[in-house]
Amino acid sequence: MKTYLVTGGAGFIGSNYIHYMFRKYGDSIRIINVDVLTYAGNLENLRDVENRENYMFIRADITDKEAIQKIFAEHEIDRVVHFAAESHVDRSIKNPEVFVKTNVLGTAVMLNCAKAAWEQPDGTFAEGKRFLHVSTDEVYGSLEEEGTYFYETTPYAPHSPYSASKASSDMLVKSYIDTYHFPANITNCSNNYGPYQFPEKLIPLIINNALQGKTLPVYGDGKNVRDWLYVDDHAKGIDMVMEKGRLGETYNIGGHNEKQNIEIVTIIIDTLLEMLPKSDPRRELVSRDLITYVEDRKGHDRRYAIAPDKIRAEIGWEPETMFAEGIRKTIQWFFEHEEWMKNVTSGDYQKYYEDMYQNR
Ligand code: NAD
Ligand code: DAU
Repeated sequence: MKTYLVTGGAGFIGSNYIHYMFRKYGDSIRIINVDVLTYAGNLENLRDVENRENYMFIRADITDKEAIQKIFAEHEIDRVVHFAAESHVDRSIKNPEVFVKTNVLGTAVMLNCAKAAWEQPDGTFAEGKRFLHVSTDEVYGSLEEEGTYFYETTPYAPHSPYSASKASSDMLVKSYIDTYHFPANITNCSNNYGPYQFPEKLIPLIINNALQGKTLPVYGDGKNVRDWLYVDDHAKGIDMVMEKGRLGETYNIGGHNEKQNIEIVTIIIDTLLEMLPKSDPRRELVSRDLITYVEDRKGHDRRYAIAPDKIRAEIGWEPETMFAEGIRKTIQWFFEHEEWMKNVTSGDYQKYYEDMYQNR
């Protein structure tokens, strides 16, 4: 039975990945979820799996070398899937340092501890040990022209403190591959959406605000383009790279689903109006009139678009959920998890929202 150490498993993509893996592999794998539970980490996301015998949660900080060493000493880890990070661009613009600490130092600690645990006396690594570093398309910078895409060979050109920290972490992983032949892969994925996404990110924020009749903040001219992927398709891609990827390689993950932000916002409004029953009082609140153009994000990247040619050709990965279906599934999930939304938006979220949006 393979043991996976998943970092950041209480966050958005990590928790969806853990659900995906248990749906796919059932009792034939073991997962240890290591998460320090920042504002973005939420054990409610894992209620369905917390009593499984093949699941364990350990609260630890990935920058805490001793804590991570202890986990590797106490458990025979076969695979590391490294999600843990500070992930929100706007927060990185206000407070970059924690991004450097978690994303760069944290990745260095994870790499070092895995290397120390896995390296054999002759400097090679035992068969089956693998480290997958989950990264982002933002490391490639910004595309201006339609019809251009990010390939694995595109030079890195990060702009925000978040993407600079992720680019640095990717470089560290590459350095371990080149220097030690460390058994790792990197995946660079486009924007994810789906259940359990924290409402600081565009899609859950718009759903949550619209249902309360609050303004829908659109940065700049609303024409920035993101390439949206349903989170289960990302989880599937990570699993396929872990199983079939060539060691040392980078794979871009994205489903050719580019949309301007303003399109996303209007699709959400229209879908909410379609899905809410006539008797639901929230229906009266949802309206395009809520759209409010606000001050742009500093250094706002104009367009991201992934070319997923390599992962398709080498590994056979294809996205399964088209946007029209994925957004309905996501909205349905938020309808069914009002309590989840209430819990994550109480307390600190109010202060975050005021700080981030009051002067925009
Ligand atoms: P998230 O912010 O929802 O979750 C991050 C998780 O990491 C949280 O559970 C948090 O508690 C944990 N964490 C943060 N600092 C930690 C530390 N020092 N020690 C241990 N745990 C810590 O993020 P997400 O959106 O799920 O993103 C997960 C990963 O995927 C990140 O590495 C991100 O860069 C990458 N990624 C995200 C997207 C996206 O669209 N969200 C797209 C591509 C890549
Ligand atoms: O591309 C992958 C990246 O996608 C990940 O690496 C990041 O972790 C993830 O947060 C996401 O980054 P973005 O900055 O693209 O996502 P966000 O949801 O914050 O914003 C999406 C777009 O919507 C972006 O162009 C900014 C805009 N936006 C965002 C918010 C929160 C608005 O117009 N209004 C808003 O209130």
